[in-house]
Amino acid sequence: MRIFVAGATGAIGRRLVPMLVNAGHSVVGMTRSPGKASALRATGAEPVVVDALDALAVQAAVRQARPEVVVHQLTALPAMLDFRKIEQQFAMTNRLRTEGTDHLLAAALDVGARRFVAQSYAGWPYARTGGPVKTEEDALDARPPAALRATLKAIGHLETAVTGASGIEGIVLRYGGFYGPGNYIGMGGAAVGQIRQRRVPIVGHGTGIWSFIHIDDAARATRAAIERGEQGIYNIVDDDPARVSAWLSVLASILGAKPPRRVPVWLARFLIGEQGVMFMTQARGASNAKAKRELGWQPVWASWRKGFVRELGENRPAVDRGAERVASVA
Ligand SMILES: NC(=O)c1ccc[n+]([C@@H]2O[C@H](COP(=O)([O-])OP(=O)(O)OC[C@H]3O[C@@H](n4cnc5c(N)ncnc54)[C@H](OP(=O)(O)O)[C@@H]3O)[C@@H](O)[C@H]2O)c1
Repeated sequence: MRIFVAGATGAIGRRLVPMLVNAGHSVVGMTRSPGKASALRATGAEPVVVDALDALAVQAAVRQARPEVVVHQLTALPAMLDFRKIEQQFAMTNRLRTEGTDHLLAAALDVGARRFVAQSYAGWPYARTGGPVKTEEDALDARPPAALRATLKAIGHLETAVTGASGIEGIVLRYGGFYGPGNYIGMGGAAVGQIRQRRVPIVGHGTGIWSFIHIDDAARATRAAIERGEQGIYNIVDDDPARVSAWLSVLASILGAKPPRRVPVWLARFLIGEQGVMFMTQARGASNAKAKRELGWQPVWASWRKGFVRELGENRPAVDRGAERVASVA
């Protein structure tokens, strides 16, 4: 198939594009940076340099590519999330999820593409009521903390525009928290450094539930959705939604760090804001049953417990340990 990937150089794009090329697809990869074009070409993709917020340029690039499938993996997240500044940190990502989605979707419809696959997020956007693990049928949070309202609205815009589009199969992939190469939780990742320094505490009883996904499992699920997904929403998460108190303690131990500090909720409100407290104490996890059933996909790393050890443990493959030395020197 001919596939246009917007966000080809991002955390997931870097893993997805070579996977698609190796599977025999013809890939056009979009970036803003001329400097990243040669790296894209080296993976076997045809690079195109376009700003996703420039509607006419997006339309021209998609017209030239004539893809059967358009993939939207655009975000603009910082090297490390600061829960207190989440509103500012998500501002550009919100534009990519609203204006960026509209431009790409219009361009895909314009060329008669048959499928559109877009990135969303599983986890804290789900309503903080009812059970700990949510399916795609469950409601999103109607009353998120103030600092998350714009972000949730942008996610809602993307999901409604994509799944409601007519004349194209619109697919939304709600990924869990990424880990693995090039991610916050990965070699040289910012979260790893912070956890080593005991700067990520367990808030209250650490009752928030997080769903993770290895970045390569996310890429494999995305390939499945590109090839055989059907209109609608899929949670792309592993089999093991976990309380913050569990995964944070296990990760600290894998990293050889001291156990995470504990901070009461009242103090955490000052340190990380209402939204940070929500992530750490009220967030919900997600179920991957639909993706397994309908995409014929299942995660190689069924639990973050093994995946974190594979990526960050003492006995990870030697090639990875070399890469970490490079990351710590850079
Ligand atoms: N579910 C999750 O947990 C999740 C999801 C996404 C990201 N993250 C995290 O966020 C961090 C950064 O993610 P990332 O590496 O994907 O980086 P990113 O900086 O968010 O980039 C994502 C992609 O969007 C493209 N892009 C951004 N703005 C654009 C624009 N105006 N026009 C065209 N393209 C644009 C970038 O292209 P160029 O820079 O080449 O122009 C890049 O290919 C990672 O630690 C990752 O784990 C987590």
